[in-house]
Amino acid sequence: MIDKNTIENWNNSLKNESPENVLRYFLEHFAGKIALSSSMGPEDQVLSEMITSINPSVEIFTLDTGRLFPETYDLIDRTSKKYKTQIKVYFPDAKDVEEMIASKGINLFFDSIENRKLCCSLRKLAPLARALNGLDAWITGLRRDQSITRTDLQIVEWDENNGLLKINPLANWTEKDTWDYIDLKKIPVSPLHKKGFSSIGCQPCTRAIEEGEDVRAGRWWWENPDTKECGLHQK
Ligand code: ADX
Ligand code: SF4
Repeated sequence: MIDKNTIENWNNSLKNESPENVLRYFLEHFAGKIALSSSMGPEDQVLSEMITSINPSVEIFTLDTGRLFPETYDLIDRTSKKYKTQIKVYFPDAKDVEEMIASKGINLFFDSIENRKLCCSLRKLAPLARALNGLDAWITGLRRDQSITRTDLQIVEWDENNGLLKINPLANWTEKDTWDYIDLKKIPVSPLHKKGFSSIGCQPCTRAIEEGEDVRAGRWWWENPDTKECGLHQK
């Protein structure tokens, strides 16, 4: 475990650095023991562009829950080809998913928060644990202003649930910063964004948002804003 002081020092010294500099520092510091966790969302696509231009051999992985939009699978393919990297795909345990569906139904997540968390835990958290096994740090596309559950997000955090460091190079970025960079670098993104989908997760648990709605309003829209984390980023 890395102690609190070291993390605080990193946050103090990196708080005004660009995401590229944050990445450059940690990709070297944890060489071979660090990976990007990508949902193929706009922030993750920005990070894929930055990371592959610094070091194309850094691992990028995605958690394929089995319930993603067809557009997301297409984007995995397009992104792998554009950046000449093979995005590593982690899949849930077939037996666990079969048992869950047999006892609770295929769309169990609409029935209760407990069912929704069970589904996220089998389809996302268990594969994430396998992806993180052996790493010292993982990189995410989290931003502070994405949600009321993320307002105290730091660039460097200790991830207590998974027992390793979590690096959030875009913690200080706004949504506009993200989209400006995507336009500037012509980064591939999901065609669903143009259809009103802002934050995209699994197909049954994501809807388009109306103008003026919060960017994450379309995720698990039937739940309260303060329960809307799947557990990947729960403290
Ligand atoms: S979630 O917890 O609500 O699903 P969100 O979609 O905002 O998370 O994504 C936040 C960050 O979590 C992403 O930038 C990415 O680093 C990671 N993440 C989320 N979903 C996935 C996924 N399916 N595969 C890999 N990483 C993911
Ligand atoms: Fe299951 Fe929905 Fe969570 Fe995806 S987001 S793992 S479909 S509950």
